[in-house]
Parts: sequence; C-alpha cells; structure tokens
Amino acid sequence: MKYIRNLFLLAVAVVAVSCTTGQTTTTVGTSTEVEKKVEQLLGKMTLAEKIGQMNQVSAGGDVSNYAESLRKGQIGSILNEVDPEKINAYQHIAVEESRLGIPLLVGRDVIHGYHTIFPIPLGLAATFDPELVEKGARIAAVEATAQGTRWTFSPMLDIARDPRWGRIAEGSGEDTYLDSRMAVAMVRGYQGSSLDETSMAACVKHFVGYGAAEGGRDYNSTYLSERQLRNIYLPPFEAAIQAGAMTLMTSFNDNDGVPSTANAFILKDILRNEWGFDGLVVTDWDSMGEMIDHGYGLDRKDVAMKAANAGVDMDMMTFGFLSHLEELVRSGEVKESTIDEAVRHILRVKFMLGLFENPYVDVEASQAVQYAPAHLEAACKTVEESVILLQNDGTLPLQADRIRTILVTGPMADAPHDQLGTWAFDGQKSHTVTPLKALQERFPGKVVYVPGLQYSRQERNRFDDVVAAARRADVVLAFLGEEAILSGEAHSLADLNLIGSQSALLAALKATGKPVVATVMAGRPLTIERDLPNCNALLYAFHPGTMGGPALANLLFGDANPSGKTPVTFLRTVGQVPMYYSHNMTGRPYRGEKMLVDIDQEAGQTSLGNTSYYLDYGAYPLFPFGYGLSYTTFAYSDLTMDKDVYPVDGTISVSFMLTNTGAYDGTEVVQLYVRDLVGSLTRPVRELKQFQRISLKAGESRQIRMELPVADLAFFGLDGTKKVEPGEFHLWVAGDSVSGEPISFQVR
Ligand code: BGC
Repeated sequence: MKYIRNLFLLAVAVVAVSCTTGQTTTTVGTSTEVEKKVEQLLGKMTLAEKIGQMNQVSAGGDVSNYAESLRKGQIGSILNEVDPEKINAYQHIAVEESRLGIPLLVGRDVIHGYHTIFPIPLGLAATFDPELVEKGARIAAVEATAQGTRWTFSPMLDIARDPRWGRIAEGSGEDTYLDSRMAVAMVRGYQGSSLDETSMAACVKHFVGYGAAEGGRDYNSTYLSERQLRNIYLPPFEAAIQAGAMTLMTSFNDNDGVPSTANAFILKDILRNEWGFDGLVVTDWDSMGEMIDHGYGLDRKDVAMKAANAGVDMDMMTFGFLSHLEELVRSGEVKESTIDEAVRHILRVKFMLGLFENPYVDVEASQAVQYAPAHLEAACKTVEESVILLQNDGTLPLQADRIRTILVTGPMADAPHDQLGTWAFDGQKSHTVTPLKALQERFPGKVVYVPGLQYSRQERNRFDDVVAAARRADVVLAFLGEEAILSGEAHSLADLNLIGSQSALLAALKATGKPVVATVMAGRPLTIERDLPNCNALLYAFHPGTMGGPALANLLFGDANPSGKTPVTFLRTVGQVPMYYSHNMTGRPYRGEKMLVDIDQEAGQTSLGNTSYYLDYGAYPLFPFGYGLSYTTFAYSDLTMDKDVYPVDGTISVSFMLTNTGAYDGTEVVQLYVRDLVGSLTRPVRELKQFQRISLKAGESRQIRMELPVADLAFFGLDGTKKVEPGEFHLWVAGDSVSGEPISFQVR
C-alpha cells in the first residue's frame, strides 16, 4: 500500500485562505496527477541533475555561497536557514536560475515547537494526550511554515530505556504503544489533515534502534534482535508511516554490525516492501560519511555506493552522493534505476507540498503568527498536562490567601533559556516566562528571590542567605534540575543524581521546617530518591518550554490539577539501568526478599533468596511507568469484560467504574494493560494497550468503557510472523503500570 499517496488523495487542495495564517493555499492536484508530474520531470533530468536532488546542505552564511551549486541543480534541499528573505533568495536561484527550476525543500529541526516552545517530547508524552500533542505540532507547523520551513526532522520515535542517554529527552520514553500514539499525533499535526501551505513534512527518525545505544552513550552500537526490532522498536515508525509521514531519517548507530545508513533489510525489505513507504529517506547528518569511521566503508565513494544501494535517497552533509554517484552509475556499481527511484521519492514530496506552485514565503506575513496568543495558551495547557506530581503530603495545592511571603530559589527558577530544553533552536528566551517571572506577576510584593545556586553544577557548602530567607517565608519553592545543555544529542550522563549542590540546598531548606515544594525541570528522569525526604511535595517538569512559568504557577496554586504520568520508569539509582515496566517474565521473579542490609553477616549462600533483584536496591524502581499523582484521588471498581472467551478477530469490551474520591476536580489517565500468560516466546509482564484521559468532578463517578481489538494482542513470535496466539490473558485497568488487580480472559 502506498501510504503517502493515499494520504494525498485526501489532499486535493483548493485555492483558499487559511483562517489561522492568512496564507494562501494552492492546488497541488491528486495523487495520480502528482505521479504524472514526477515522471514528466524525471524524464527531463540529466543524471547530474538527479544526483543534485539527492544532496542536502546546511545553509547559514551568505546565500551566494551556494548560488553556483543551485544554478547547476546540485542541491535538492537545505537545512538550517530560517530567515524568510534568505529562504526566498535560495528558492529564487533554484526556481528561476536553474535549468529545470526545481524548488528546494527547506528543512529544520522543529522538535517541540518553532518559536512557541512546547515541553520537550518526553514531556509531551507525559500528557498521555495525543490530541493536545497534535495541536501543538500543528502550531509548530503554522509558525515554521510561515517562515519558510516545510520539512521538520521530527518526530523522534526512538524508544529509550536508558536515562543516561541524553536524547531520551527527544522521544516519548520507553513504551512502544505510547510512542506510537504520539508518533501519529505529531505526524498529523505537522502535516495537517490536508496538505496546504501550512503543512510541514514530518521526518520520522532515527531508523532504527538508536535509543538502545549501549551504555547510554550517544552514537553507540546497538544489538537488537529482529524480534525486538519488530515487537518494540519498529511499530511506532510503522504507525507514523501509516498516518502519512512523508519522510524518514536513518540513524547513526550500527545494529549488530550493520550501520542503519547502509542497512537494506530495514530500508528496503521492511520500510519499502513490507510497509509500502514511498516517501523520502534522508541520512542523518553525515551518517553516510561516518560509516568510514565505523569501519564499514573505505572512503566516501564506497559509503555512497553502500548507502544508495541500501535505499537512501538523500545525503545530509556527507556530499558523498554529489561527489561519487555519477561515477558509481557509470561503473555499474549503482544502477541508474536506483537513482531514479530515489529522485521519485524526493520529487513526490516536493510536489505534494505544493512547492512547485508556490515556493516562496510571504515575508510580510511571516511574523504575524509567531507567539500568537492562542499558541501560548496551548503551550501553557500542554505544560499543565505534562507536569507530574510525584510526591505530596498535602502541601499542594498552595492556598494563596494564607501565604504572605514566598521564597523562590534554585538554579531553574529563572533560567529562560534552559527551561526551553534541548532542540529549541528558534525559541527566544526573551519570550520565555520563567516560574520567577510568573510568580512575581501573580503575587506582586510577595515573592522573595534568592537563587542559592546560579546554575545546577555550582558547588556550595553553605546556604546561609537562602536559609535566612526561607525562615522568613511561609513557603519555599525550589526549582531544581538540569539545564538544557545537560540532555539532548551527545549529552549523555553517567550520574543521574541532581547535579552540583542542589540536593544539599534542598536539605538545608527542609531543615528550616518551612514547607518546601521542589519542582524539577530536566531532560530525563533523574534519580531523585535522596531528595524526596527533603521536600513536602515534588513536581517533575520535563523541560517545559516558553510557558513553563505560568503553567507551573497554575499547578502550584491549584488553578490546574496535575495529571501527567511518567512516560518512562524513574530509577532509584543509575545502576538499575535498564529497568522498564514491560520486561519479560524471568524464571525467578522477585518475591519480596530482604536486601543485604537486613541480613546478618553469617547468612548462607541461598538465604537472600535466589531471585532477580539487586542486593542493595531491590527489584523496583522509584516510580513505575504510568505513575503520577493528582490533588484528588481516583478509585477503580467493578472491572468487567463482556465475555470470558474471544475469537482472534473479536473485540474486547471492558467496563469499569472510575470515581473521583477526593476533594478536587481532576483528570485521571486510565491505562489498560495486558499480559499474555503463555506464548511461543516469553512475554512481557504487562503491556500498555490503551489509555484515556478522564476528567471527573470531585465526588463524581462514571462508568467507562474501553474497546480493545483482539488483534492488538498480536506479536512477532518464534516463526517470525505476527499473530495473536490463543490462550489465557490477564487484563488490568489502572492508574499506572503496577497497580490494580487483573481479570482473566481467553482467546480461542
Ligand atoms: C541529529 C538529527 C537532526 C540532524 C539535523 C543530527 O545530528 O541526529 O536528529 O535532525 O542532526 O540537524
């Protein structure tokens, strides 16, 4: 099936004015028309012009640097230019001064917002709210396309189960199903429900397995079996492609010895042949050239040959295609038909985006939509849904009328650049509202600010100034965590405790006896166990972006009620890596044995119990996947299924009562988990299969029904095919991945 073409059938655009942007949309035709145009153009192209389309370069600097190459048709795409006037200048040369006038595809890493920055993707995942995430991606597309970016290198769909890996920030965390839902939401948001001038082609990345880098060190090798790939790492990509994602990026890693950029099994067999993807495949930045460093190719010619033959269409920044493909075609090492196919993929995207009809940016209009009030409002709501309440002794929500003095402290209290998080190239700190700014605005005259630490890594032995201020305050709000630079690409860490003297600062504040509320802003789940006793409540905000301040103020003072859930397991200590909820059953699961500290010195070899756990840290994480508190509480009851036995093509209907048993209106993310008790392979202890956000008034009860197609229980088994294996299953509906009592059903 041709997914992009199908999507495009829906996109017979008409000339109209978009109400959100004021931009004009243009007619780009039907799928068949596009295919015709692609073939006609391809027929006119010389080999050199075809190869030119396969070359992507980074802009920056003077437009004239690339003028000659553009005239010769040697560039198919540029990235990293956001000045609309310069983009127009590049396009002008490509369109008016090259022989065939093929417009450029202009790309950028618009990862969690363009100017209006939303929470980092890990924070987006914590919302468990695909609709809201889609809205955010749409806003990013509206802002970015208004300035000329028509291609974003997002969403990143790498499953990450190792918080040392800095890029855990950029994905949806550890779970395949949650990642798949977020993938679809982002693709829809970026590209829009029909293609027009606000459509920004999505690029699903990094294909594939990149998040499983050994040791959490970026760019490292992975060793994923085909079954792990198919059951865990590939489904989010397939879901995104089914949703119409137009492009895909290869990953830097080698999996079991084969670099992704030359891996025909994933790029051809799976992506093209099994999934029918007919969009564009781009390398990661110089990932073709880096195959030389991998020791997988002799020189740029060799790696260009390997990448082209494996199914790569566009070379980001190696210049291997531009320099060597022509001679490789002449020598017969790469077939011209391979080049033709690559160019089809590229031109198809350009035609579908309407670039031929309207390659230019409306410079006058390009500013109007940036940071629009509705965009800021959506960003604020997204932060409210993304923040996770991990601990609360009742201190939160704060009662504003009972507080005269608020001490605001900590290195993240007023760090406008750092709260934006990684990959926020275009978010400006002048537009960022920090917690300090938001609280000062909201409570004029009540806020005392003593930072304590200027930045997270700072070491300090004494905190006399902060402690004195805390003693005079009614409540202490400590904003801790890590700056943007400590997560993201190439920013892995081996120690995940709060860095610098932050834990000491928190302990000093707690010692004053004043109520202390900690808010951690970070790019990953840090190991905060030692900090929990030193605060009355703790909110966890994956870098929240432009509107972090107002949203956090709303949460702290009860104008919003936390509903975020952990999209990734929070560990007690880094030595537990990897620990994730959906691990397979072992032959000796942990059964509550004591830890070494509880055992007398003379204990015999087996007295500690021979099960799967750590003598010092036990078997459990600090907070499981799917966990998060609210100011209210929820009770689940009366879980029933419509049948005991289902056919493989049936649908399971589950119903249960959800009651808001607390004093506040609130929203619960209800999660449906399943376990396949006996399989042709050992199966995960639980797998998330569905979730829903349910809002209830204080005291309200509601009967909730969830429908789960039995087909969703399928997995790739021992024989390599994907199917549902009949047998017995357990099903939970709960507020996290470890709670609830299961009910059983059978599939026959
Ligand atoms: C990253 C990609 C990114 C590309 C372009 C690479 O270093 O791995 O995720 O899209 O750069 O900026």
